Amino acid sequence: MIRIALTKGRIEEGAVELLRAAGYDCTALVDKGRRLLFPVGDGDIEVVLAKAADVITYAEHGVCDAGVVGADTLMEHGGGLYELMDLKFGKCRFCLAGIKGKNFYNGYSHKVIATKYPNVAKKYMHSRGIDVEVVKIEGSVELAPLLSLADAIVDIVETGNTLLANGLEIYEEIAPVSARFVVNPASLKLKKPEFDHLLDRLNSVIEKK
Ligand code: PRP
Repeated sequence: MIRIALTKGRIEEGAVELLRAAGYDCTALVDKGRRLLFPVGDGDIEVVLAKAADVITYAEHGVCDAGVVGADTLMEHGGGLYELMDLKFGKCRFCLAGIKGKNFYNGYSHKVIATKYPNVAKKYMHSRGIDVEVVKIEGSVELAPLLSLADAIVDIVETGNTLLANGLEIYEEIAPVSARFVVNPASLKLKKPEFDHLLDRLNSVIEKK
């Protein structure tokens, strides 16, 4: 059995669709109520639903053999996992964004960036040679420039609707993001035949996309 930690929400939907297309019975994941552990397929997979950062924690500690998580979370939290596959769903972009029409780089004033991804924001700004103050926000980060807490945000943009609805725009694209299949290195060694089988089945679906 392979235990997979799956990021709840948008990535979960894409992952269930992928598993189903690969021929795994996902009935348990449909009417799931408040349960968090689910059998998938014929007992060959167990799915654990978790928040993105926790997916990495469970897989790193080896209590889950693998994880499905966005590249955004991997860029922020890194870690000692093997990234085996780009699953090609959950596509969005890491962007620097702010109030429409404002030039973020104008002037010499102290710049503040609000974000759920402080490591990504700092690394990007340092790569541009700019020293900024980064403020961690847990959600709806678009509020920060509207409330004048920040000059810009670093966040993921999917459709761009949230930016548009709040009078914000993309200043710069930082990196593309999509869902990734990550594996604990020790699990991969111990369960090589099980992983080969699973990856073959997933690949056959992804290649057709
Ligand atoms: C993400 C992201 C943006 C929004 C972008 O937030 O942080 O707010 O989606 O999507 P869009 O470009 O399609 O509008 P999420 O919905 O995950 O919620 P959160 O802000 O509470 O984290």
